[in-house]
Amino acid sequence: MKVLHIIATPRREKSNTLQVSQAFLNSLSALRHDVEVEVVDLYDFDLPALAGDNIEAKYTLMVGQPIDKNHEDSWRQIETLIRHFLSADAYVISAPMWNFGIPYALKYYIDCIVQPGYVFGFNEVGMPVPMVLGKKMVCVTARGGDYSPSSPMHAYDFHEPYLRSIFGFIGITDLQFISLQPTDISSLREAAFASAMGQARSLASSADWSPSSVPVPAG
Ligand SMILES: Cc1cc2nc3c(=O)[nH]c(=O)nc-3n(C[C@H](O)[C@H](O)[C@H](O)COP(=O)(O)O)c2cc1C
Repeated sequence: MKVLHIIATPRREKSNTLQVSQAFLNSLSALRHDVEVEVVDLYDFDLPALAGDNIEAKYTLMVGQPIDKNHEDSWRQIETLIRHFLSADAYVISAPMWNFGIPYALKYYIDCIVQPGYVFGFNEVGMPVPMVLGKKMVCVTARGGDYSPSSPMHAYDFHEPYLRSIFGFIGITDLQFISLQPTDISSLREAAFASAMGQARSLASSADWSPSSVPVPAG
């Protein structure tokens, strides 16, 4: 099982999020010997430009036309990135909350890979149809404050709902969250870590992540 670990925090060894995602991945690797983790550190990773040729190509594809010959070379970079994303059986996204949403580097990655004809299509009445089927995802999110449903800050959470929406849109609906919060309220930090670490370990050992529950997509 190939797991793509997409890192959207630049804090490396100081990262709150990465401590929890690492606990999940370590537990998973200890329980399953077929796990191969590939890391994509979005702060040390070249993404193709979306302006210029690639935006022209995208708008051509949106109306169901073949892309212009002059845009093909540039578009190949987008195709390579999408192929790389689709090569995984499962994903771990490590994403702190930044200004109520996801960090810009993850948004840029999403803007590159979410392309018509590759990860979603359109049906005969023009409604979008997901194309990324049979994959699993865990989103490990860290927030400085508390955005849980009982918190007055809950309405400001554009982080988890966005991740659910965009990955659900392309077909990844087997999506689980481990939320580490609040990390930046010192009196509550330790309990937040204990709870998130516990969730990470129990998710890794759950039936959801047992070998039989991760179908290997055809092709
Ligand atoms: C640019 C930036 C914006 C942030 N915005 C929020 C925010 O809107 N709400 C919040 O609760 N915490 C916010 N934080 C705090 C982080 O979410 C929190 O410290 C988190 O634990 C960081 O995870 P990391 O160590 O993995 O990067 C922000 C931090 C940064 C650097």
